[in-house]
Amino acid sequence: PRSKRHSCHSAGLPGGNPTVITRAIIPAAGFGTRFLPASKAIPKELIPVVDKPTIQYVVEEAVEAGIREILIIISKGKEAICSHFESNPELETLLLKKGKHETLEAMKKLSHLARIQYAYQEEMKGLGDAILCARTFASSEPVAILLGDTILHAQGPVSPLQSMVDLHNQTNGSVIALRKVPLHMVSQYGVVSGKPISKRITRIEGLIEKPPREQAPSQLAVSARYIVTPGLFEKLDTTPPGVGGEIQITDALHALAQSEPVFGLAFEGARLDIGNQLEFIKSNLLMGLEDPRMKEPLWDFIQSLKQP
Ligand code: G1P
Repeated sequence: PRSKRHSCHSAGLPGGNPTVITRAIIPAAGFGTRFLPASKAIPKELIPVVDKPTIQYVVEEAVEAGIREILIIISKGKEAICSHFESNPELETLLLKKGKHETLEAMKKLSHLARIQYAYQEEMKGLGDAILCARTFASSEPVAILLGDTILHAQGPVSPLQSMVDLHNQTNGSVIALRKVPLHMVSQYGVVSGKPISKRITRIEGLIEKPPREQAPSQLAVSARYIVTPGLFEKLDTTPPGVGGEIQITDALHALAQSEPVFGLAFEGARLDIGNQLEFIKSNLLMGLEDPRMKEPLWDFIQSLKQP
């Protein structure tokens, strides 16, 4: 199905089952200034890791967790993201003619991954503002939020998002993916404070966006995946601009944690943020080493390298 494009405030879908997470918001509106010049004409979310754009991994992760309705938040100039998920009849005809049946099947599967809609963030007013563009789409249900420039590389059979959905189903609370980061890196993330409930679960009491290291309440950093209750949108309505003059989802989650349960779920495995050059290279190595088509020659190549 051809994806529809909506203005920021008109993306709506009919209601669904309120007890299951069926919808995901994927913010992908940012300019990607950290990855220039690569992201000048190509949205950073479309930059491939091995052979797939990062945002395709993100959509597939949502689909694997049972999500079928997706709203991608874009901004002007990032429409190539829509083209990536739309069907391309001319390409499909060409692949058929050339007998490239496997590729044809992969292209068809890609355009039917999920029901994807788009909304525009009109002004770059922050991640919190981008999420507010999805209010109608969220339709008063808990929703997942997956940052479109970050792949979570699972260790083990269950993806971090699936574990978050499971925790939400047990608690009905909001759930945030956390990852322990070195102290010198806390100022790059949202950081949480709270009480540990188990080895991996924290009952969050407070969140602070990009704190200086001496003010960080912990080393547990917010990591690109959230499941939020409708209460988040109410908090976002009254959240003033924070760090960088932008409306921060972290500040709204802090307010939410004062009035309803918000849990943090620490995951093991890699968080691959392709907006960061070093992580982008590491992502290609990690994913390449998992790809049966290139695993062995790539490993041989890595071993042949000499320390510079
Ligand atoms: C955003 C969030 C931050 C979070 C980070 C990684 O920051 O604002 O709280 O820790 O993503 O998920 P950004 O990387 O967009 O500056």
